[in-house]
Amino acid sequence: MAKILLIITGSIAAYKAAKLINLLESNGDIVTVILTRGAEKFITCLSIRSLCKATVYKDEIFQEEHDPMLHINLAREHDAILVAPATADFIAKISCGLAGTLSLSCILAAEIPIMLAPAMNPSMYQNSITQSNLSFLKGKNFQVIEPEYGLMACGEEGVGRYPSEEKILHFIDSVLFSNQKFKGKKIIINLGSTQESIDPVRFIGNYSSGAQGMLIATELLKRGCEVYIIAGHTTVSLPDNIIRAYTADEMLKESLNSLPADVYISVAAICDYKIKDYSAKKIKKSDDSLKLEFIKNIDVISAITHHKDRPKLVVGFALESDNCELNAKNKLRNKNLDLVVVNKTKHLGKDFNEFGMCSTDSYKELGSISKKDMAKNLVDKLEGLLDK
Ligand SMILES: Cc1cc2nc3c(=O)[nH]c(=O)nc-3n(C[C@H](O)[C@H](O)[C@H](O)COP(=O)(O)O)c2cc1C
Repeated sequence: MAKILLIITGSIAAYKAAKLINLLESNGDIVTVILTRGAEKFITCLSIRSLCKATVYKDEIFQEEHDPMLHINLAREHDAILVAPATADFIAKISCGLAGTLSLSCILAAEIPIMLAPAMNPSMYQNSITQSNLSFLKGKNFQVIEPEYGLMACGEEGVGRYPSEEKILHFIDSVLFSNQKFKGKKIIINLGSTQESIDPVRFIGNYSSGAQGMLIATELLKRGCEVYIIAGHTTVSLPDNIIRAYTADEMLKESLNSLPADVYISVAAICDYKIKDYSAKKIKKSDDSLKLEFIKNIDVISAITHHKDRPKLVVGFALESDNCELNAKNKLRNKNLDLVVVNKTKHLGKDFNEFGMCSTDSYKELGSISKKDMAKNLVDKLEGLLDK
C-alpha cells in the first residue's frame, strides 16, 4: 500500500486516468490527484471525484481555500509522484526546473521517487529535444515508464502510446517495493493450462485459468524480481512480454531456453498425457464408442530439477483431495523439489482455497486463504529460502 501523488497532464490519454486510479485504489494505494490546465481540457476534477475516492486539486500554486504550503506538504505526505500521462510540454517544464504551478512545485520539492509515463505522437516523442529532456531527467533519478509502439489517436503509428494501466501498476510496485533480496534475481514461472491435440479440431486440456500464477508473478514483480512468464492457455489478462507454450513439449522447450535462473515455479496445469497417434485428419463419428490411446508426457519439472543448470529453488504445485501432507512430501522427494504448494480441490475455481506448503523440513497448513494471500505467502517463503 502506497500514497501516490498522481499528476495528470494534457495528453489525449488523460481520459484513461480514472481506470488507473481505480486500479491503484483496488491495490490498496491512496491516490491524490493534480490535474494540469492541459489535462482539464480532456477530463474534469468532477469526473475524477465522481469515479474515484481520490482527492483532486487544480494545478494552481496559489490556492486560497487550501493550505498555503500545499506544494511542500503534498511532496512530503506521499511515497511517490507519478506523472501519467506525461506530455512533452510537462517533461520540458520539469527539465527546466520550472515551479509556476502546484504540480511543478511539488516535483521540485519532492525527495521521493518520481515516475513519468510519457504519451504523445511518435514524432513528438522521438524529437531530440524530448529525448534529451528525458535522458537529462533519467540522470536526475526520474524513473521513466517507456511508452509503447502502436497506432496513435492522431492516426500515426510508432512509439508514443500510453502503456496499459496494469503495466504502470507493476512499474510503480517494482520501484517502491523492490528489496535487496530479490534485486537481480531471475525467476521463471509457468502458468495456465496446456492442451494436447487429438486431431486438427479436438484436444484434451484442463480448466486451469492462470489466475494463481499471475498473482504470484505480480507479487514477484512488485518485489523487484526479473520475472519470465511462460504461459499456456489462460482466461486472465497477461502482461505484454511473456513467452507462450501451449503443449507440454513447448513448455519444456521454453523452460529450458529460459535457464539459467535463480528460481523456477511451476504453477501451470501441464497435461500428463498426450495422444499416442495424432490423427492428421478429423476423426469421423462412426462407431458407438471411441478408444484413444494416450502416452505419458515428459515431466517438465523433473527435467528442470535434473538439469545441469538447476535453479537454486524449484517450486511445484500439487492438486490434492486427500492425504495432502503425505502426497506433498512424496512429490517433493521424488521430483527433487525445494517446495510444494498443496492446492486442495475443495474450492476449485474460487478466489480462495485451502492451501498447504511443504518444504524439505516442514509441512504447514495455511488454511482457507485468498489466492492473492497465497501468492504473498509463497513469495515470503522464497525470500527466506533464497537467503539460506
Ligand atoms: C487534441 C490534443 C491532444 C493532445 N495530445 C497530446 C499528447 O498525447 N501528448 C502530448 O505531449 N501533448 C499533447 N497535446 C498538447 C498538449 O495538450 C499541450 O502541450 C498542453 O499545453 C499540455 O499542457 P500540460 O502539459 O501542462 O498538461 C495535445 C493537444 C491537443 C489539442
